Amino acid sequence: MAAKVISVANQKGGVGKTATTTNLGICLFQLGNRVLVVDMDPQGNLTLSLASSDGFEQTVADSLLDHKSALPRVEVFSDENGRLDLVPTSLALASAEAALMNKLGREFRLRDQLAKVGDEYDFVLIDTPPSLGLLTINALVAAQMVIIPTEARFFSLQGLQMLQGSIDEILYINPHLKVLGILLSKYDRRLGEEKTVAQYLRDNWGDLVFETSVGTNSKILEAASTGIPLTQLRGSQRAVDAYRDLAREVLERA
Ligand SMILES: Nc1ncnc2c1ncn2[C@@H]1O[C@H](COP(=O)(O)OP(=O)(O)OP(=O)(O)O)[C@@H](O)[C@H]1O
Ligand SMILES: [Mg+2]
Repeated sequence: MAAKVISVANQKGGVGKTATTTNLGICLFQLGNRVLVVDMDPQGNLTLSLASSDGFEQTVADSLLDHKSALPRVEVFSDENGRLDLVPTSLALASAEAALMNKLGREFRLRDQLAKVGDEYDFVLIDTPPSLGLLTINALVAAQMVIIPTEARFFSLQGLQMLQGSIDEILYINPHLKVLGILLSKYDRRLGEEKTVAQYLRDNWGDLVFETSVGTNSKILEAASTGIPLTQLRGSQRAVDAYRDLAREVLERA
């Protein structure tokens, strides 16, 4: 498969997984790549951020439960250089996760579906739910790399240890999985605690922390809640620049 597959994961909720997937996907597309983003979270925030509707007849849930059912793909953007497609989700994915428990090859279902379309893309980005259940496991088994968005808070550090533990478990069935980088995804450098934790992360995880950090920025929230791409919002330049820097760093590292 030609595509580089990157999962965006952290079992902690609200740390910027979906904002990172959305905006990194858009920036990689704008830099001339063919990008597929996959919404593996039944909450469907990625689907709502990128598609005007969330009432899709076919979603990722169908393809996980029935291996003969092709991944549904919706075009978000395209131009002569690249494109951005979305595999949408719906709440049905929550019950699909339970049903998957009784299926053969339950950890490999997403990987095997992506193998069928991977040659059409340069990058596949997978957004995951805030848990370490079977949906996140499918995403980590399907990926070669994982990006870990995190807040710069003391409580987040414990979560990172937990996630590292899960990644170590995944290595049993996906030995090539590597952490592409830890991203400070909602970084407020004016707060003392955040500066201290950011420094701690850089001291302890070294180069694994992306040089780029994404500052807290109301435009990111506005883009997510209106469904208007960040790049099309007035006054969003600083936030767009941050994600573009991240995209360049991902291109370098991946
Ligand atoms: N850098 C930022 N500045 C301001 N708001 C942000 C930033 N990044 C994300 N947000 C907002 O914070 C909220 C949580 O972010 P997001 O949905 O990306 O997190 P998540 O990790 O995907 O959450 P969940 O675990 O629920 O899936 C959202 O409302 C989002 O728009
Ligand atoms: Mg999310």
